[in-house]
Amino acid sequence: MKTIIEPFRIKSVEPIRMTTRAEREAYLREAGFNPFLIHARHVLIDLLTDSGTGAMSSEQWAGVMRADESYAGAESFFRFHHVMHEIAGFDHILPTHQGRASERILFEIIGGSDLVVPSNAHFDTTRANIEHSGATAIDLPIPEATDPRTRHPFKGNMNIAALEELIERIGPERIPVVMLTVTNNSGGGQPVSLENIRAVRKVCDRRGLRFFLDACRFAENAWFIKQREAKQHERPVRAIVREMFDLADGATISAKKDGLVNIGGVLLFRDRALFQKASNLLILTEGYVTYGGLAGRDLEAMAQGFNEVVEEDYLGYRIRSTEYLGEKLLAAGIQIVEPPGGHAIYIDAKAFCPHIPVEQFPGQALVCGLYRAGGIRSCEIGSVMFGGAGRPAPKMELVRLAIPRRVYTQSHIDYVIEAAIEVHKQRAEMRGLRIVEAPQVLRHFTARFEEV
Ligand code: F0G
Repeated sequence: MKTIIEPFRIKSVEPIRMTTRAEREAYLREAGFNPFLIHARHVLIDLLTDSGTGAMSSEQWAGVMRADESYAGAESFFRFHHVMHEIAGFDHILPTHQGRASERILFEIIGGSDLVVPSNAHFDTTRANIEHSGATAIDLPIPEATDPRTRHPFKGNMNIAALEELIERIGPERIPVVMLTVTNNSGGGQPVSLENIRAVRKVCDRRGLRFFLDACRFAENAWFIKQREAKQHERPVRAIVREMFDLADGATISAKKDGLVNIGGVLLFRDRALFQKASNLLILTEGYVTYGGLAGRDLEAMAQGFNEVVEEDYLGYRIRSTEYLGEKLLAAGIQIVEPPGGHAIYIDAKAFCPHIPVEQFPGQALVCGLYRAGGIRSCEIGSVMFGGAGRPAPKMELVRLAIPRRVYTQSHIDYVIEAAIEVHKQRAEMRGLRIVEAPQVLRHFTARFEEV
């Protein structure tokens, strides 16, 4: 069969509320043209993020009821530990409340002033935690990554020559870890090839460096490897996932993505001494080592979620439904970051509304347009997010349509496509924005705008 269907039945439903265009206009103005400030009940299709917004399975909910809430040594912890060990192969496993908690602990231990942490592309919380420790975060993507139109099967790859050049220039002693984000979220949800992960490992071995994965979307990355990389097609996803982790010395994970849970994170180590330092910090601020700031039921849900996310029927459907959205937008003349990513489609806002200059935030204007047209909430990834405070404008002005896992059906996605096409047809009427109020850092969350 050609049709790829949702590989699940729906057992529990949650109503979403339709709004009129006039209501949405009022909500948008009340929120200062910033959808982060709109009440979720006024959103019809919420594509703000794929993080913590997924639907849990009946087995995960059953685990929630079965959970052991003991303070220390809970059975739920050992179930979680067993699953994580099977999937990733690490012996030293800490649960945390979400990805950035893992990052905060890791960089408190290995970060520090005068140090430099290279990556294919750091996510903003990773960058912020690295900088908070006094170190500098550097992105080393391949050149293809910054052109939305270039089709490269592994656009998330790290530029290996640039990594070697950096090590040569500043010296390995200033690099506490080399990181790879799989898939590369900031770069369009694009995957990293196994060949590239192996190449980073080789460089790290040669220069005596640590290598960690930011593995939030490890299963989606492995699926792309299976589909696109030579000699990987016949391998089970679980084997590819295992090789990805086997190549690393550790990993930070936000389980809110491929853990298929609403809250949770993981910190993995090969090295026992580092693990012990991290355990002490975890106890100081998160909780005891067998729960890490979570409830036993969260550990149960994660254990089951990590097992479900590597199921190939699920991954086939997941990646295909994102690709379907991307293909339909492209066919309608809407430029996206090509090829479609794993967890999201990124619309090229500069191409969408060329009449709006970068200083008037074309991405934010498009975000407002999608909300007005269809009650769809999306997220600007461009000058609003990365600009301000004297920083240079980013290379791309993007709008991310992030797809929550197992939440929306194909008809929801068809609706999103229809709304986007309607906005595109009337794009000449879209207006730019100016900021009227914004904090110094992470301004995209709370800034208020007015139309120019
Ligand atoms: N690393 C990556 C690649 C991420 O995408 C995220 C979160 C984190 C780390 C931090 O994890 O939120 O659990 O603390 N990304 C979300 C997003 C917020 O919308 O892309 P967290």
